[in-house]
Amino acid sequence: MKEFHIPVLKKEAIEFLNIKENGIYIDATTGGGGHLCGLFEVEKRINVLAFDQDIEAIKYAKERCKAFEKNIIFVNKNFSYLYSALILNRIDNIDGIIFDLGISNHQIKTKTRGFSYSLNHKLDMRMNKNGNISAYEVVNYYPEQELGRVIHKYGEERYWKSITKKIIEARNINPVITTFDLKHLIEEVVPKNNSVKSLSRVFQAIRIEVNHELDSLKKGLESAIKALNKGGRIVVISYHSLEDRIVKQFFRYESLKCICPPQFPRCICDKEQRLKIITKHPREPSGDEILRNQKARSAKLRVAERC
Ligand SMILES: C[S@@+](CC[C@H](N)C(=O)[O-])C[C@H]1O[C@@H](n2cnc3c(N)ncnc32)[C@H](O)[C@@H]1O
Repeated sequence: MKEFHIPVLKKEAIEFLNIKENGIYIDATTGGGGHLCGLFEVEKRINVLAFDQDIEAIKYAKERCKAFEKNIIFVNKNFSYLYSALILNRIDNIDGIIFDLGISNHQIKTKTRGFSYSLNHKLDMRMNKNGNISAYEVVNYYPEQELGRVIHKYGEERYWKSITKKIIEARNINPVITTFDLKHLIEEVVPKNNSVKSLSRVFQAIRIEVNHELDSLKKGLESAIKALNKGGRIVVISYHSLEDRIVKQFFRYESLKCICPPQFPRCICDKEQRLKIITKHPREPSGDEILRNQKARSAKLRVAERC
């Protein structure tokens, strides 16, 4: 197989984790194991819980990181189960966690996974192949209003109304079965010079819905903060504005000492500051990295430290 995934901002992300000897870390999104193996390149005497909801990623990363297998527990689950996985593995606290969100090159480039509008296959887009709902169900069975909400909210797509209407009209005649069926419907209603952007946005929106990506992220961040030791860091690499906004707002809220209205003479809120923000502005890949890896172009890295 060609390279499973090229890790983005690998050096920066790992440096920010401040890996220490005998520490316990989580890779919440193992993918091809690029970041995971990178942790051991810095320090061999660590233990890592490595999550991925995609069994293909787990299998690949197990092979790739074989040299460190004694120190890795692979967890084939959504990282929203992070806290229960820690309890099951009798781990009280961790020293750092990395989230490298979204999908891997392998997922997008494997035709049968039905993620890509460039490869014709039955609509699917499930990261977890046992997930209940695939893109086929979202596109064919969601009520019009719900489908519109997904395309509007998660795709931030300007032509969401006409795209939704077109899909509904089409599926009333025949089901929208393949990625190319959906692609052609979108292309019929958006301006030609903008169709690639619309395709990316609509496919992204449906993928977010199928995989409950934003809810999982909120749950994952909440669990991470509960599990982190003082001084432990959360490193997040995100690839679109919806994810980045969630991370930014979460970090900002958790870094506040008080949430009382400014006119209050004294603090009565009992708010606990749980994080210190390390990256005031998100870090982005260099021009060189983007030249080597197009997927990196939209990446934003944010880091916060447990107080
Ligand atoms: C961008 S790739 C990670 C690449 C990885 N850092 C590397 O170096 O190869 C994202 C991976 O995270 C997984 N993933 C995304 N969201 C997840 C979630 N909520 N729970 C578990 N795995 C998730 C995807 O299946 C995919 O394999």
